[in-house]
Amino acid sequence: MTDPDGTAETAPSDAETGPAVRRLADWDAVLLRELADEFETPLYVLDLDRVRANYRRLAAAFPEVEIYYAAKANALGEVFATLADEGAGVECASAGEVHRALAAGVPADRIHYTAVNPPGRDLDYVVDAAAEDDALTITAGAADTIDRLADRGYDGRLCLRVNPGIGAGHHEKVRTGADAKFGVPAERAVETLADAADRGFDVVGIHAHVGSGVSGDALEAHREFVGRVRDLARAVAGAVGDLEFVDVGGGFGVPYHEDEPPIDLEGVAAATREALGEVDARLMLEPGRYLVADAGVLLTAANTVKEAPGTIVVGVDAGMTTLLRPALYDAYHPIRSLAAGADDRETVRQTITGPICESADVFCTDRPLPRIGRGDLLAIGNAGAYGYEMASTYNSRPRPASVTIADGEARLARRREPLADVSRLERRVEEATAGATAPPEVDR
Ligand code: LLP
Repeated sequence: MTDPDGTAETAPSDAETGPAVRRLADWDAVLLRELADEFETPLYVLDLDRVRANYRRLAAAFPEVEIYYAAKANALGEVFATLADEGAGVECASAGEVHRALAAGVPADRIHYTAVNPPGRDLDYVVDAAAEDDALTITAGAADTIDRLADRGYDGRLCLRVNPGIGAGHHEKVRTGADAKFGVPAERAVETLADAADRGFDVVGIHAHVGSGVSGDALEAHREFVGRVRDLARAVAGAVGDLEFVDVGGGFGVPYHEDEPPIDLEGVAAATREALGEVDARLMLEPGRYLVADAGVLLTAANTVKEAPGTIVVGVDAGMTTLLRPALYDAYHPIRSLAAGADDRETVRQTITGPICESADVFCTDRPLPRIGRGDLLAIGNAGAYGYEMASTYNSRPRPASVTIADGEARLARRREPLADVSRLERRVEEATAGATAPPEVDR
């Protein structure tokens, strides 16, 4: 969508980029009910057409920028394939994500691996992958990581993650920019990269990430952050020569509340350009949430309705093991009843909880919603980012299935984890089932 000068060839139409925000109310209730009937609940539904539109909108706001999708938001192979088709690369946080990106057909020259205290097994895998194709880029966040790469014989494409000393984001647990865990302290960046260059590494870029879920009103913090990265990029280029790219990470927030406006992409793009000024390197971004959050919903069915003193507790079949964000960050997710005639029911305050034996296992507390009855289907919105990826099998609950929609057609993208899988890797189970014929797996 960009020509070599970095200017947009043609402005994409609204039909291509879609509206700036897709609310839970915009989803087709009939389709969601059909999917729940066919594939059962809990069920993740991800609309790849919306993922495409989100990418196109972002790319249109940042025509001169290279976009690498942060795989951690949703590492389904179909998401990688869809975004790669649009021109995105993939930013991976683990060997597993690199493996999944390669398996989805993303070429190594479109993969960046960002190492955060990487386990040895991760480095072994990624160094092997780079030996297969040396176009892969490794981003190190500590001098130790560079030593450990050198120990493995790697001296290929190296980017350095720097700690910009400024963080932002929707919750203190995701404001990485000022957290000493992430990146080399800014004042050590030049010497660390000069040393790496002396040792023969191909120094290609610097990287920084401010945090996740940054809202539009954090523009000042954004300017300050990008300005610091710019200063560092200049200092590094002065010491080790031209850089190929400067990567300012991800973090674009999305509106989780029904009345929250979408982020002003044009404003953020202008502030980024202004703060970056003249830097002789390509600008890169690594958004995760922005591309997938509003493309996904989680469907769940009510199984228990309990009138308790002062509240109504609705038990559903998804829980904190299915969607962790409310329990971990007190995150708000919109919830909609898809029951026939729900809009005509009286609105009452209801607390929606999962099946896990923890009081944190709550999707909302005393939220006004149409009265929910046993068996009703609910949709939880903005579940496309950090939903399935953070799911676990705590309480020995198998993870749910995922359905994708592409060109308007829905299909099963990932089967529900069978119950037997929760013990499959135990030695005594392996021994007991060795030689036994595995039960047929239903392909749904
Ligand atoms: N790049 C790096 C190096 C990152 O660490 C992250 C996110 C991203 C890019 C993408 O950030 P995004 O555009 O998605 O905001 N589980 C949390 C979010 C954790 C994000 C961690 N890093 C949540 O559900 O809110």
